[in-house]
Amino acid sequence: MIICDDLRPQIGGKMKQIPMLDLKREYEYMKADIDAAIRKCLDHQKWILGPEVKELEDKIAEYIGVKHCIGVSSGTEALVLSLRALALKLKGKEYFDKSDKVITTPFTFTATGDAILRAGATPVFVDIDPVTYNIDPIEIRKYLTRNSKLKTQNSTHVVGIIPVHLYGQPCNMNEIMKIANEYNLFVIEDVAQAFGGTWNGSKDSPQKLGSVGMAGTFSFFPSKNLGGFGDGGMISTNDDQIAEVARMLLKHGGKDKYNVDHIGYNARLDTLQAAILLAKFKYVDEFNERRQKIAEVYNQELSGIKDIILPTPQLSNPSTPYFTDDHVFHQYTIRVNNGKRDELMRYLKDKCVSTMVYYPVPLHKMKVFEGRYRMNGDLKESESVVHDVLSLPVEPLMGKEMIMKVVETIKEYFKISN
Ligand SMILES: Cc1ncc(COP(=O)(O)O)c(C=O)c1O
Repeated sequence: MIICDDLRPQIGGKMKQIPMLDLKREYEYMKADIDAAIRKCLDHQKWILGPEVKELEDKIAEYIGVKHCIGVSSGTEALVLSLRALALKLKGKEYFDKSDKVITTPFTFTATGDAILRAGATPVFVDIDPVTYNIDPIEIRKYLTRNSKLKTQNSTHVVGIIPVHLYGQPCNMNEIMKIANEYNLFVIEDVAQAFGGTWNGSKDSPQKLGSVGMAGTFSFFPSKNLGGFGDGGMISTNDDQIAEVARMLLKHGGKDKYNVDHIGYNARLDTLQAAILLAKFKYVDEFNERRQKIAEVYNQELSGIKDIILPTPQLSNPSTPYFTDDHVFHQYTIRVNNGKRDELMRYLKDKCVSTMVYYPVPLHKMKVFEGRYRMNGDLKESESVVHDVLSLPVEPLMGKEMIMKVVETIKEYFKISN
């Protein structure tokens, strides 16, 4: 049996583990900036809402092109707080009612659906586009058309949509915003996996993800394209009221901590995390480009393998303007046909190549959502894709040799299995 070496992969050595991500290596690359940022915090000792939090909020607001960014304790809290702020704005109530429905994808991390429940509303799962794995606007429209016919018999109504830019690939925001405007729905973009991504829906004015909908929510979980040294998140919005309420909710629910207005949280972004994120922010565009270059190599080298479907920049609707450089490859995810995914995964593991399955279970099949969701149609694309997807290592600092080792091992498997 081959023993994989868990140390940092170095080509030339024998069977070094190729990790999905190598945060130690990234730290070494940025060490001077990160150490200086931490040192600054040690000097000033302003651990709660220190100056770095506002500095990061302002920098990211400028980068994304929105009026407000609000630092919070995680991407999950960013979703919950945005939804709660919208309940207060739209209904004047602390929480949504169960009869308020929010459309989202079942093929995402649990937090997207869970946040809808925590805000009091009911998630409606709508199937994905089988090409991009993102929520399919055609299916959203189908659901809304059917729902408006039913509306008179049943008092439920749809209040919003949460599209998730899965794996770093933008959803079709032109269509989603068009539908939202027609049906008077809010849109919260879940940008947890797509920091720095752009929507080029209109060629003249590309927009950073998180500035297209009414709000955007980001995660700074360590493995994200912009990741901290712990949990963290952010809300982006041009809406003054959402920003104001979110700022209240993140610190117990009031402008005045000792005389509060709403049921709030302790959901502040740590000063220390903000300082580290500020240091890492300097590198985010470079790292996203590195991810895109790695994806290009995978695309070239893996094309032509019969049982693999590569991530594709094409949306199912070819009339939508779309450019390949939109995808920031938080994950490089292939689809493995003919039930070979798990066997390929095991083969790669034996050869010291890490892979991951994002996600093995669609949200509507999880116990937590039992009896708490609605669905549109049979969600067959989401139910099928969970058996086929496989994410390959995308460490922005990985060299060509390591990428080629992944490629060669995959090719080896297919020669063996054919
Ligand atoms: C799509 C999506 N939404 C929300 C979240 C939640 O972010 P966090 O882990 O920072 O709470 C994640 C994180 O994995 C995510 O991938």
